[in-house]
Amino acid sequence: MSLQRLAMPGLRIFLTGAGVSAESGIPTFRGAEGYWTVGAREYHPQELATHYAFTQMPEEVWAWYLYRRAVCRAAPPNAGHLALVEAERLLGEQFLLVTQNVDGLHLRAGNSRERTFEVHGNIDYYRCSENCVAEHFALGEGFLPFAKDQKLSAEQQALLRCPRCQAWARPHVLWFDECYNEEFYRYDSSRTAAARAVALISVGTSGATNLPVQMGYIAAQRGAFLVDVNPEQNPFSQLAQQQGGSWLRESASTGLGKVVKAMQHG
Ligand code: OAD
Repeated sequence: MSLQRLAMPGLRIFLTGAGVSAESGIPTFRGAEGYWTVGAREYHPQELATHYAFTQMPEEVWAWYLYRRAVCRAAPPNAGHLALVEAERLLGEQFLLVTQNVDGLHLRAGNSRERTFEVHGNIDYYRCSENCVAEHFALGEGFLPFAKDQKLSAEQQALLRCPRCQAWARPHVLWFDECYNEEFYRYDSSRTAAARAVALISVGTSGATNLPVQMGYIAAQRGAFLVDVNPEQNPFSQLAQQQGGSWLRESASTGLGKVVKAMQHG
C-alpha cells in the first residue's frame, strides 16, 4: 500500500504506545512482566495504577512506580524514537506527537516538549495528591536506582511530599479510575488536533484507552490518511484498512523508518 499521502502538507499526528518502547527493553503494559507482589498477594498493573490503590497503600504504589521509573531511566531511546525526532525536524509545526507512554523516552530522544503531548503523564514527575497546586515537579536524580521489591525508607517517604502542603505526593500519571483532562493530560488539545490532521500515524498501541481511540475516529471522520504500525492486529490497523489507509505489520523502528522516508519523498 502506498504511503504517498504522507507527503501532503498539513498536520501529521503520531500517536504512540508501549510498542515503541518495547525495542528499548521496556515491557509493554499488557505483557506478562507487569505483575507486582505486595505481601502475599500478586497485583495486576490495572489494580495498582489506580487512585484507590494509592489511597490504600501509598508506599507500595510508590515503590512500584519508582521501580518502573528506574527501568525506564536505564533504557536508551531506539531507532523508532529517533525516527520521530527526524519527523519533527522535517515537519516543524506540521508535526505533533501524542504519546501514551509515561517513560519520557520521546523527550530524552530529542522531541520538543511543545510538540509532545504526554496524555498519560510522565513517570519522572510528581504532583500534590490533594491538588493544592496544579504544578508538577521533577523527581530528578533522586530514588535511582530502585530495585524490584525494594521498600521505601523513612527518608524516602519524607521526600515524597507536596513541597507546598506536605500531603503525599503522587506520580504524575493518569490512573485507571481517573479521567483525562486538559490541565494535566492535554485532552482537549489532542482532540482538536485530531480534527485538523491530514494524517494520523498510530504506532505500537493496542487501542485499549479512550482518548487515542477517539482521536482515530475523529481523524477518520475528517478524511485523514491513517497508517498503523504494529506487528499485531488492533483497532487502529482495522480502521486504517477500512479507510483506505495502510497497516505496516512490523516493528516500530522499521515501520517508522518507512513512514519518515515517505514524508520526505512521497
Ligand atoms: P499495550 O501493552 O496495551 O500494547 C502494546 C502494543 O504494542 C501491542 O499492540 C503490541 O502488538 C505492540 N507492540 C509490541 N512490540 C512492538 C514493536 N516492537 N513495535 C511495534 N509495536 C509493538 O500498550 P498501550 O497500547 O500503549 O495507560 O497501552 C495503552 C495504555 O494502557 C497505557 O498507556 C496504560 C494502559 O492503560 C494508563 O496507564 C493510563
